[in-house]
Amino acid sequence: MSYLETTHDLYKEAALTPDVGLCCTTTPIWQLPGLDIPSRMLEMNYGCGSTIHPRDLVNDPTVLYVGVGGGMELLQFAYFSRRPNAIIGVDVVDEMLAASKENFIQAEALNLWFKGDFVDLRKGDALNLPVDNESIDVAAQNCLFNIFKETELRKALEEMYRVLKPHGRLVMSDPTCEQEMPDNIRNDERLRALCLSGSLPLKDYIKMITDVGFGTVEIRAKRPYRILSPNKYDVNELIYIESVEVCAIKDPMPEDGPCVFTGKTAIYFGDEEYFDDKKGHTLLPDQPLPICDKTAGALASLDKKDIFISESTFFYDGGGCC
Ligand SMILES: C[S@@+](CC[C@H](N)C(=O)[O-])C[C@H]1O[C@@H](n2cnc3c(N)ncnc32)[C@H](O)[C@@H]1O
Repeated sequence: MSYLETTHDLYKEAALTPDVGLCCTTTPIWQLPGLDIPSRMLEMNYGCGSTIHPRDLVNDPTVLYVGVGGGMELLQFAYFSRRPNAIIGVDVVDEMLAASKENFIQAEALNLWFKGDFVDLRKGDALNLPVDNESIDVAAQNCLFNIFKETELRKALEEMYRVLKPHGRLVMSDPTCEQEMPDNIRNDERLRALCLSGSLPLKDYIKMITDVGFGTVEIRAKRPYRILSPNKYDVNELIYIESVEVCAIKDPMPEDGPCVFTGKTAIYFGDEEYFDDKKGHTLLPDQPLPICDKTAGALASLDKKDIFISESTFFYDGGGCC
């Protein structure tokens, strides 16, 4: 049995019997005015962060959500769009599709504003999406892609890239890990399916994203996620896993490489009216400017004593240089 079949079996079980805490998020669940989330949807929250960012949802986007789980995030996306078929949900596990459908019926009973036809549920695989080219404004996945090994991860990202319109957004949450994951753990199919052993270092995760062509990447949040300890797992030391929230934008790839925002900011504190780097960035005195890592490197190489460049905060929230 391949690790993908193990994954399907595990989520079949998690659909039939909700497994509270299967994945776990330190991100508070969006409780929005007039939104009542059915309790079974909450029990089936198998994400490791949030992909709901109201700033992505202007201009009435069509949203694709891959790996629906209990459907909670699809309901949250629908809260903003409130029109038929605005949210397309794709999952490969029949039982998960059936469970989420049941949960949407509950959601309709609890929320006057919600109609079941706001969500278009489709059986399909992240590796071969049943979705037309360039038809999606916002694509999302939460805690699925970390399960994939490199070949499948690349394919899944290529599929998201294919279906997004130009400048469309891919919003993701996944575990990452900066330590070397021991091979026995990395190759444990069940731990991988449980989102515990497939995670990559953040830099490698970002490279996978930019390698398929996304010209802009935003790291929106990074939070503690799990510990693999020797008393519970076959490891020699504590393995610390974080979870990240990332937005990849289908902007054209700049000639000098992608713009990756990790939360760095430049602050000019010199005596001039402003500082102009002649590459499109104007720094006004005492006005923090969010910058991508590429611009941070270029500004740092000028070795100017009156420009401060912060470290990455991994909490980038928009605006800035590119
Ligand atoms: C960890 S759960 C996350 C569920 C949901 N995103 C959430 O945050 O609660 C992974 C989901 O991906 C689905 N899944 C697993 N393999 C898949 C694949 N190859 N293509 C599409 N969905 C898949 C599972 O059935 C499950 O719904």
